[in-house]
This record gives sequence, structure tokens and C-alpha cells, in this order.
Amino acid sequence: MPLTIKPILPGFGAEVSGADLTKPLSEALRHEILDVQHEWGVTVWRNTGLDDESHIAFSRMFGHLELAPRPRPSRHRHREIFDASNLDAEGAIIDTEATRLIKKGDRIWHTDSSYMEKRSAYSLLLAHEVPPDGGQTWFADTRTAYEDLPQSMKDRLEGLVGENSYWWSRKQAGFAITEEEIDARPSARHPLVHVHQGSRRKALYIAAHTRDIVGMPREEGRKLLAELTAHATQPKYVFAVTWGVGDLTIWDNLCTMHRGGDFDVARDRRDMRRTTVREGAPPSEPDDPFADLYAAGAAPLSQPAPARPS
Ligand SMILES: [Fe+2]
Repeated sequence: MPLTIKPILPGFGAEVSGADLTKPLSEALRHEILDVQHEWGVTVWRNTGLDDESHIAFSRMFGHLELAPRPRPSRHRHREIFDASNLDAEGAIIDTEATRLIKKGDRIWHTDSSYMEKRSAYSLLLAHEVPPDGGQTWFADTRTAYEDLPQSMKDRLEGLVGENSYWWSRKQAGFAITEEEIDARPSARHPLVHVHQGSRRKALYIAAHTRDIVGMPREEGRKLLAELTAHATQPKYVFAVTWGVGDLTIWDNLCTMHRGGDFDVARDRRDMRRTTVREGAPPSEPDDPFADLYAAGAAPLSQPAPARPS
């Protein structure tokens, strides 16, 4: 067993070493990495030496890679790279109100792409340039959080479905969008509790994109969602990764929530790049769901919609 596993919390998150991710991996090692990922939910690989090409090549072992939308000029040739930086196409810091709000949205607990019909399983975030203190990303364990709920709450959650909207999470970050405008845009329904296939453990599937609970009065649904999020983000379920250049963190969106840490968006350069792996089997035909979603959500707003999904 070549991999070295250093747990971060007793049952959640691990620093992993012992594999050169820039090189093709043996079948046995790929299985081992998947097993580790299923067990720990979040894995942190330090100083990987990955570049865009090897980042993409390594990510493919987890499944089908989503294509990032290209609403503005991009620094990246590869559609598989989601730009999570605060930099423009020329590499200069973008200092606009919209960027500040996007970063504010990143700091709210969320689950990548839960507003999509086709859910994302893994996000693989690679640090190319980090703020002076490294910057942080926080993770929460939604499997243990679910298991620790009282049976009465588990019974209450049985069969409940969340309505998820990208624009709802942007509204929470401060974007000027009305409930009616959100109603007119696409949303996606997913169960609040599901079985995490890699571990066969149940997990909560909630957070900032979850706007309502289907069939429940709005106020009651939002109160329950807030209660669940507060429960799942107690200190005993969360930890932070402090980044260094070359570090890769892989998280499984189907058993975690995450949020960005604070940094000075207007002053500190932060170049983070993400690949995103779709849940389940690869599509039989090429598709571009993020571009479709933004095209469908292109109705005028009081303020422009942000350019990058999270
Ligand atoms: Fe995210």
C-alpha cells in the first residue's frame, strides 16, 4: 500500500501522499485513491507539481469532466478548467463589486453545482497562486452530521426534496435579484438526504443553493434548512485546508459542504483552478449543461449575474 494517510478529523478529511499525480497511475493505485476518497470525503495532496494538462488528465480517473461556461474571455485554453481566481484574462486582479459579491458567495457554505439537474460529484481544486497567508477552504462532514441527528429529525427528513437555485445563493451574497426573478430561472430538485454511493453511508445534501423544501411552506422550509446547515457546520464536523502553491484538494460534493476563507480580494492574487466530475456514468453524447443553464438564466436582472459557477 504505497499511500500514506494522515487523518485531519477522526473520520473526515485526510492528507494523502505517496503517489505522483503528474504521471499515469496503475489500476491498483487508482482503486486505492478512489477507496481513500470514498472513506475520507476530502483528500489533500501537497505540492503535486500538477499543471493544467496533468490536472485534467488525473481528474479523468474520477469520471466525466464538466465543461466550464465561457461568459467572458478566459485565461484558460481548456474548457475543463473552472477559473476560481480573482484574475482577469490578462492576469490582473479584478476589483469590481460583482467580484466582491462572488467571493462573498463563496464564503457561504455550499455544495458545488447542486443547482444543476446533473449533480457534480468531485471537485478537484489546484492552487497556482495563493495569498500571503495561503488562504483557506473549509469543509464540513455531511455524513457524520446526518448520522448524529436525532431519530426524530431523520424521520422528518425522510423523503424530503430540496429546490436548488444558483441565483438563490447569489441573492444571499447580496446580488440584487428578486424572488420572482429567481422563480423565472432554472432550478433543480434533489433529496435532502441520500445514500453516498462510495461509502453506502447516508449524507445530507443541502447548503447555500437550497432555496426551499418541496411541498413545505417557504418559511418553515428555510428554517429547517438553516437549522440543518448550522448543525452540520459545528466545529466538530469542520476543518480548514490552508493552501500552498501546487496543493490539490479533492472533495466529494455528495458527502461534504465547503466554503472559501477570507482574503483581501482586491489586493491579494489568488489563482485557483478547478476540475469538476459529474456524478454517474458519462453522457452518451457531448453536452454543455453549465452554458445551457446560463443561457436559460440570461433574463435581465437589476444587477448582472456573476460569471463563474461554484
Ligand atoms: Fe465551491
